[in-house]
Amino acid sequence: MSNIIITGGAGFIGSCLVRWMVKSYPNYKIIVVDKLTYAGNLENLKDVESASNYAFEKGDITDRGFVEAVFKKHAVDGVMHLAAESHVDRSIMGPEEFLRTNILGTFTLLDAARHAWKDSQGRNMFLNVSTDEVYGSLGEIGAFTEKSQYAPNSPYSASKASADHLVRAYYKTYGLNALTTNCSNNYGPYQFPEKLIPVVILNAIEGKPIPVYGEGKNVRDWLHVEDHAAAIDLVFHKGRAGEVYNIGSDNEWKNIDIVMLICRILDELRPASKPHDRLIKFVTDRPGHDLRYAIDPAKVTNELGWRPLIKFEDGLRSTVKWYLDNLDWCSRVRSGEYAAYYEKNYSGR
Ligand code: NAD
Ligand code: TYD
Repeated sequence: MSNIIITGGAGFIGSCLVRWMVKSYPNYKIIVVDKLTYAGNLENLKDVESASNYAFEKGDITDRGFVEAVFKKHAVDGVMHLAAESHVDRSIMGPEEFLRTNILGTFTLLDAARHAWKDSQGRNMFLNVSTDEVYGSLGEIGAFTEKSQYAPNSPYSASKASADHLVRAYYKTYGLNALTTNCSNNYGPYQFPEKLIPVVILNAIEGKPIPVYGEGKNVRDWLHVEDHAAAIDLVFHKGRAGEVYNIGSDNEWKNIDIVMLICRILDELRPASKPHDRLIKFVTDRPGHDLRYAIDPAKVTNELGWRPLIKFEDGLRSTVKWYLDNLDWCSRVRSGEYAAYYEKNYSGR
């Protein structure tokens, strides 16, 4: 494969993957397909914009004509599919766009790939990037494996689960070379400031309340976005079609503990008159809030040799530093409809 579409390449994980692929594979052509919603930003791709093996196509993955034209124009032979509506709180406030992009968009891409590749099966790959949230919530013990039952609890995770089922169906029914990765929570540079870690960093340095949902006891399994990009690359090239690979790094944190840790890093890097943790405010919980996620990465480790390389404390510290060094980026991406979203999500809590 040499002409690879990365959908959602202007978003948080997508842009990291694009940087990774453009640098790692100078002989490939990496084509970003992105609608540039509130979460997509061409600034995230400035490091690669002048690379000769990079192209950008602006458009909506639910637009069949657009998707088919991109497949034809670039003789696409591989897809890394990341475009999605990705924020649980937004899916609670307005699920419809999640169903459209995440389900219909995935269907449109799969079906375009099926037709475009009908004479070249076996030489193509469609990798669907999904989430551990499709498995629902864990209790105090255990971890999700590829055999865990799907039990999504939010409109976001239900829409991602639907997409995963379509990918499986296209493999089983049409023999499309396709597979899915289910990853745990990512952190790192360029994450849109509506997700936990950037919200905490920015609110803390702006002296605003740091909103912790419920009692802060929910547990997430955090992975650095560059480790995720490396896993996607490996599974795309070496994974078996029709399979599912869980990606995670055995790095579970209670929300309140991660918030406290960020506050301590900020106390050191950007001291204020009083410790930043004074700003922590416990607010009304998220409806249907999953208690705990944890990934068992044994399959991707044993079968493909993937291992995360970035130690969490180092990755978190460098992420905090990145936000402190890129406050202009933060204010630019928050300048659009962000204020209205923030008001709607947090004012009623
Ligand atoms: P993001 O919200 O930062 O980026 C999503 C990108 O998709 C944006 O660039 C946006 O413009 C684009 N997009 C949205 N709708 C589109 C459409 N209809 N047509 C074309 N482009 C569209 O998301 P992210 O955090 O980078 O997540 C990327 C993928 O990884 C998603 O599929 C998500 O479900 C999955 N995932 C995310 C995490 C995480 O912690 N962020 C964890 C596991 C899996
Ligand atoms: P988030 O970053 O939205 O990811 P996800 O819901 O996909 O796991 O949230 C991570 C955790 O942090 C989740 O348990 C919800 C919680 N959270 C807060 O406590 N406060 C916040 O302001 C946000 C955005 C999330």
